[in-house]
Amino acid sequence: MKVAIYPGSFDPITYGHLDILKRALNIFDKVIVLVAINPDKKGRFPISERVAMIKEAIEEVKLPNVEVDSFEGLTVDFAKKHNATHLIRGLRAVTDFEYEFQLSAANDYIDPSIDSVYLMSKVDKSFINSSAIFEMAKNGIDVSHLVPKSVVKRLK
Ligand code: COA
Repeated sequence: MKVAIYPGSFDPITYGHLDILKRALNIFDKVIVLVAINPDKKGRFPISERVAMIKEAIEEVKLPNVEVDSFEGLTVDFAKKHNATHLIRGLRAVTDFEYEFQLSAANDYIDPSIDSVYLMSKVDKSFINSSAIFEMAKNGIDVSHLVPKSVVKRLK
């Protein structure tokens, strides 16, 4: 069974993330969405709520073979513990590349047995990011085409 981890802050999850997840499930038998806990970053939603929003979103779009978890520590350690061989990341634009290149190099240095797989965002989702969603919602813009219902509900 091919298992992959899809790590991120997911603060909150968007339809951009869900699209990457859906496509990753065409490649892997199981994907574990991992909300990475960063104690140095305050965040917008508490970790438990981010996990709950992802779980509800997965039910909303009916994705099979997905688990959701949170973890404080190295993503590759979590991957190893769960017999995952790959990390999934989405690439939206050239600006994502430099950061992702460094992240994958760091992960590779820590554990070269865990490889990273990059999926290109669909053009219509390439402008989405969690902070923009938050900003838009705060200013009364309808974000229901950009994030799942579980997020819209909480942003309100
Ligand atoms: N669609 C929409 N938005 C997306 C997206 C997509 N496909 N992919 C990323 N984003 C957005 C996020 O919403 C987020 O937006 P924001 O900055 O406005 O909040 C932004 O892009 C970056 O988020 P994310 O992809 O979650 O990156 P991150 O920097 O928060 O997460 C980790 C990076 C958590 C995967 C990484 O730091 C990690 O693995 N940490 C654990 C410790 C570790 O192992 N470190 C690595 C070795 S030192």
